[in-house]
Amino acid sequence: MSNERFGAKLYMQSSTTEADAYNYIIKLVYDRCRVRLHDGKKELIRARLGKRMRKHGLETVADYCDFLTTAGEDEVTEVVNALTTNFTSFLREEDHLQFMVRQALPALLTKGPQRFNIWSAACASGEEPYSIAFYLWEHYSLTTGWDWRIRATDVSTKALDKAKRAIYTADRVEAMPMELRRTFFLRGQGDWNGYYRVKPEVIGRVSFHQLNLLGEYYFQEAFEIIFCRNVMIYFDRPTQEQLVNRLCHHLAPGGYLLIGHSESLTGLSMPLRCLRPSVYQKQ
Ligand SMILES: C[S@@+](CC[C@H](N)C(=O)[O-])C[C@H]1O[C@@H](n2cnc3c(N)ncnc32)[C@H](O)[C@@H]1O
Repeated sequence: MSNERFGAKLYMQSSTTEADAYNYIIKLVYDRCRVRLHDGKKELIRARLGKRMRKHGLETVADYCDFLTTAGEDEVTEVVNALTTNFTSFLREEDHLQFMVRQALPALLTKGPQRFNIWSAACASGEEPYSIAFYLWEHYSLTTGWDWRIRATDVSTKALDKAKRAIYTADRVEAMPMELRRTFFLRGQGDWNGYYRVKPEVIGRVSFHQLNLLGEYYFQEAFEIIFCRNVMIYFDRPTQEQLVNRLCHHLAPGGYLLIGHSESLTGLSMPLRCLRPSVYQKQ
């Protein structure tokens, strides 16, 4: 049986070997979102697909692959959801948030309307865009005439569902300073004891959409700052270069691109200058 639906020109047969099956999954995820799951990640693949396999009563990754070739788009989405790493946290790489309110926005917003847009381009379960909103709320108060929006996108529908609900376990929220927690969260009561929810007025500043950074997309607005952090690390260099150049199109003149602390764009051909590691400005 041939399956070229995902550009994965592998031939899946009922006698698919486990090795073929892993290669098939690795290629499928790469074709879909350019995330590289190397051979060494077999344990991870098996563990992450375990829930799907149990749901369909399948014992091996090879059986699951045979099933996948006929299962349809929803099951493929489940695979992408399961295998894209969604780790994130509130106030992660917080120096970027400080840079945003102390340097980047003051430098950009010297004149003109008190309006700007931020894009959290791989927002996972929402902690990143909400953290951005907390900082903006304090430094660019809506009550003093500012108007700002945060667009938050991710390829994973599962992560986005969590982000939209904005409900987090206490351990994630209580790692933040008490002041922030009090200002921006509602504490769960009764059945919701042990959970917090971001306050509705903050949720209202963030719009969530599914978006594959390597697919087609268009925005009406330009962004003063794009946070594209801890996702590029999964892409190869040509893909990174292509992506960064596309992100530049969506930056306002003089706008900033922030990438993860462990990532680097050194050597890529792009219209950005490096201000310091992980902080780039459109030329
Ligand atoms: C490790 S999380 C990073 C979350 C957040 N930016 C941070 O730094 O905490 C990586 C996110 O990238 C998303 N992702 C992976 N490939 C993607 C793609 N091609 N397009 C959009 N998002 C993608 C994953 O679903 C995941 O939520």
